[in-house]
Amino acid sequence: MSISRRDFLTLALGGVAFVSMRAFASSAHTPITMNEAPMTFTLPPLPFAKDALAPHISAQTFDFHHGKHHNAYVVKLNELIAGTEFEKASLEDIITKTAGDASKAALFNNAAQHWNHSFFWECLTPNGGGKPTGELAAKIDSDLGGYDKFAADFKAAALAQFGSGWAWLVADASGKLKITKTPNADLPLAHGERALLTVDVWEHAYYLDYQNRRVDFVQTFLDKLANWEFAAANLAGKTFKIAA
Ligand SMILES: [Fe+2]
Repeated sequence: MSISRRDFLTLALGGVAFVSMRAFASSAHTPITMNEAPMTFTLPPLPFAKDALAPHISAQTFDFHHGKHHNAYVVKLNELIAGTEFEKASLEDIITKTAGDASKAALFNNAAQHWNHSFFWECLTPNGGGKPTGELAAKIDSDLGGYDKFAADFKAAALAQFGSGWAWLVADASGKLKITKTPNADLPLAHGERALLTVDVWEHAYYLDYQNRRVDFVQTFLDKLANWEFAAANLAGKTFKIAA
């Protein structure tokens, strides 16, 4: 894989330079991205030290969640696209073209889980959580009834997701904010919605630190970990896009 196939962009956020392996592109008309050579997806590094979120999320959890679970999705994704029509497609194209196709469920699941986890790591930050500010706070007030109602509804969605899945803050096609939940690997991209923030409620996300107490994990995410700067950047029209 040549460096030219990676799309590195720098996004200035509040005066802080945020450098990522992922690219942020306009959300309005994201072109289909085809690469000149077969794609090999890679496990992105965590955007923080693996012990940076302790005690809320331990280094041991990241060893398994990032180093084992996320990595396994990437390895399987690369196996599944090799020699197929998808080997030159962007991750987003793989997801949107396989969503709802039962014959391609394994490919969708591994591609979507690579996207979901890459996005989730960015939704976490040391000393995060609490109330957002600025335009995002105003949108939460106008569309979701204010922060306290948002927090209660987001937590309720996370707890109501039976089994494995995700809770999301999204912008729908009209730009209105919504709280959603998705099972297993499903994600807003497959439903024409733009993800702003998510929490992983698969048991592997919290069991080592919280055992069965999903409610405590989600509350801690809201109070201590949620990366509102990242969510605000997504609201401002930056589509999270993962490069190989
Ligand atoms: Fe996960």
